Amino acid sequence: MSTPHLEGEKGDYAPIVLMPGDPLRAEFIAENYLIGAQCVNNIRGMLGFTGTYKGVQVSVQASGMGMPSMGIYSYELFHFYDVQSIIRIGTAGGIDDSVQLRDIILGQASCTNSNYAQQYQLSGTYAPIASFRLLRKTAETAEKLGFPVRVGNLYCSDTFYDDSPSLKQWQKMGVLGIEMESAALYMNAARAGKEALCICTVSDCPLRNESTSADERQIGFTNMMELALETAVQLSSQTASFT
Ligand code: HPA
Repeated sequence: MSTPHLEGEKGDYAPIVLMPGDPLRAEFIAENYLIGAQCVNNIRGMLGFTGTYKGVQVSVQASGMGMPSMGIYSYELFHFYDVQSIIRIGTAGGIDDSVQLRDIILGQASCTNSNYAQQYQLSGTYAPIASFRLLRKTAETAEKLGFPVRVGNLYCSDTFYDDSPSLKQWQKMGVLGIEMESAALYMNAARAGKEALCICTVSDCPLRNESTSADERQIGFTNMMELALETAVQLSSQTASFT
């Protein structure tokens, strides 16, 4: 079996998949954290791996950048590979004044300027939200690990380079951070009856012209990755009874 974008056989993915945007980050996690990791996808270099972490089967599959790319990969994982839960692990730009470089944000919900929801032909505006089970378990795990996290709204944008001054307006609405994949992930999960959460490390604060160095991004990414992996272990002992 394969899909238009993934070459794995059914059963090659674990019920829980971590999704960094960058394929090399997927490879880094597989090589440094997973035991017995097997490469399950290399179509377009969008690397995916499955292995175990503390005895729990976990997959890591790159999503690429932006909603169209995340939309494709998360759809195929949910619908064709029986994946139950996807945790995106990525970077975000800090928007709220209280958000600092290297903070970890758990995306409780995701506002967007994208038309992704138009396909569902709803008679109003859909509000994409994280799975409560994943959000709660991740927040609890962060507390146990001693990693402070922020929980709140994300703004999922179709544009990295944007001509409009809209970030200031999103800031007035208390949105914590900007990234480019969470809304499509949350909508795909909702439509599939599955679970999703977006965890982001703040790599830059565009409204204050601040950004992290590559080394700082790596440290921030390590904490977020450990948080996601430890959460996967915690979730494995629970059944997905509510989302
Ligand atoms: N904009 C969009 N996505 C991002 C940003 C940003 O400033 N930083 C990290 N991901």
